[in-house]
Amino acid sequence: MDAIQIYGGNCLKGEVKIQGSKNMALPVLAATLLINGTCEIENCPVISDVHHMLRLLKSLCCDIERKNHTLIINSQSFSCNDMPSDSVGVMRSSLTLLGALLSRAGSVYMQYPGGCVIGQRPIDLHLDALRRMGVDIEEKEDGFVAQTKGLTGAIHNLPFVSVGATENIILAAVLAKGNTIIENAAKEPEIGALCEFLNKAGADITGAGSRRIVIHGVEKLHEVSYRVPADRIVAGTYLAGCLCSGGEVFLKEAPCGQMDAVIDAASNMGADIKRYKEGLRVKCDKRRKALPRLCTESYPAFPTDLQSAFLAALTLADGRSVIKEEIFENRFRIVPELQKMGACISCDGHTAIVDGVDKLNAATLYANELRGGAALILAGCAADGETIVCNRHFVERGYEDICADLRALGVRCKKLD
Ligand code: EPZ
Repeated sequence: MDAIQIYGGNCLKGEVKIQGSKNMALPVLAATLLINGTCEIENCPVISDVHHMLRLLKSLCCDIERKNHTLIINSQSFSCNDMPSDSVGVMRSSLTLLGALLSRAGSVYMQYPGGCVIGQRPIDLHLDALRRMGVDIEEKEDGFVAQTKGLTGAIHNLPFVSVGATENIILAAVLAKGNTIIENAAKEPEIGALCEFLNKAGADITGAGSRRIVIHGVEKLHEVSYRVPADRIVAGTYLAGCLCSGGEVFLKEAPCGQMDAVIDAASNMGADIKRYKEGLRVKCDKRRKALPRLCTESYPAFPTDLQSAFLAALTLADGRSVIKEEIFENRFRIVPELQKMGACISCDGHTAIVDGVDKLNAATLYANELRGGAALILAGCAADGETIVCNRHFVERGYEDICADLRALGVRCKKLD
């Protein structure tokens, strides 16, 4: 059935270890193509997006060995073959291979990566930046051919913040001739992780985490091992789960330092949150307060990837909340599903207005993208009775085993196959 069955209505209680970050692991895996040797990547989450990325690397003749959460990747036998379109098309982050492939092979044919229901997700910033670095790009009907005689450093003034475009420029720049400057770079922790990995392998990158990143091209990178940090969005998801259902949870290894805006929003809703070196403790034993305004913006502001989870929590808050989604044009797709549960939400374009209700009713719900699907599961945990969330595969793109995680927090739930 590709679904999850939840018997909700109880508080969350317990401890859960937060998995490695999907959005840090994916660009780091792409970056292994820049190293003509072996890389060891630890704490890599076992999720379908990583499976697809590994499938793409294998199609490029990389040797890959997995030992639980550790991947050993050797790209010495690299060959720039055509990549399987079903893996390219299913996830946006296949695009981060572009910069690395151009650096390694000088040419690549790539099908347009999957857009998705949350937005058009154009790639103009990526292609324009690569053109500035000496890449000729011929766009075709369902993809494009990119070729270069040698990548050269350039100055990029990004018109708006883009995580993926910042990543692709970095990957193209580390072995390019000359220096590259990125103005208006993304400050997300995922950029910091990618630059930490690359600098550990001998790259020369400064400014990660700031709006201005400078990359001095180097001759080559050397073999390296790297541990993927914990996933701030998964940690934020279970924090929102506590807001939805109430209770007390400990999120082991949660990257507290990357979650200020999320912790602030939850505290303003009435949660009692304490930061520890080992993780984050969240306690929510009274009715949540509404948020007069919750606006998603690029880091360090409130992350778009947690907008759906907080929307679900705000359906049970006291009073009216207003959510503005400033990053993607279509990220309120779960509203009709929450309305099936009795939520009182009206939305148009980038704004959702939520009037809190006393309870949500269990229902059969349909996920249609990753973070929205996780939010529907949280809503099911809060609703009395049996909720079924269909299309579980969307959630498995980014969560290793959300059922096992929620069971560790006292939720009665299981996969329905
Ligand atoms: C990354 O996507 C994340 N994905 C997304 O997480 C996250 O929501 C997003 O950053 C914003 O933080 C990964 O890291 C794999 P952007 P990315 O380029 O890089 C527009 C999840 O759930 N844009 O920062 O694709 C774009 O349409 C996923 O884990 C252009 O117009 O996002 C969006 O409106 C969902 N042209 C805005 O910029 C471009 O060339 C920000 O997108 C590129 C982007």
